[in-house]
Amino acid sequence: MSVIPAEDRKVPVAVLASGRGTNLESILEAINGKYITNGKANVVISNNPNAPALDIAKKYKVPTVTLDDRGFPKKSWDYDQKTIRSLDQHNVKPGRGLILLAGYFRILTPEFVGLFDRRILNIHPSLLPAFPGLNAQKQALDHGAKVTGCTVHFVDRGVDTGPIILQAVVPVREDDTVDTLSHRILLEEHRLYPEAIRLFTDGSLRVDNRRVLSSP
Ligand code: GRF
Repeated sequence: MSVIPAEDRKVPVAVLASGRGTNLESILEAINGKYITNGKANVVISNNPNAPALDIAKKYKVPTVTLDDRGFPKKSWDYDQKTIRSLDQHNVKPGRGLILLAGYFRILTPEFVGLFDRRILNIHPSLLPAFPGLNAQKQALDHGAKVTGCTVHFVDRGVDTGPIILQAVVPVREDDTVDTLSHRILLEEHRLYPEAIRLFTDGSLRVDNRRVLSSP
């Protein structure tokens, strides 16, 4: 009987990021610091050659791939196939890998989502299903919500519609601006995303229709 080394038993993780990458950093910090012990960061892929997220990946010595999406529509199977090839080259494969969207400003095609069914997570800066889409913090302020927050969810074929894994509540203050509110939500995001990834990579999550359960 051959023994599989512990490193090879870890879930291969890819992060897709388009921007500044603060969530990426919280994830890599959680892996480095062994808060997440059953996942390994195999690759960071960006559609934006100038994304600061790429520098963060390099700082943590995680391989990076840039797939410039200029000229492609925001949702494109041609583009997604390029991503899937890169994922495969870094051993993030359907049925085994985990894909994390961390400020990824593209919409995945249903084909991509179907291939990695229940293996793609996203973080969104509101308490879904309230305020999906862009500028969620401004939407919450404009609506006059008294609380908002952030949500980690599985990605399905809709935009910000997949089964919810974890949520954190952030009260809205009367003197909040988009910036102050976004900042307090971001602090919660940096705690919440690693927690959800830990649950996933530990094999603790079960999905029952729309309900995600993490109790044994
Ligand atoms: C975060 O607010 C996240 O919730 C949203 O995009 C933003 C990404 O920020 N999906 P960063 O690049 O992780 O700093």
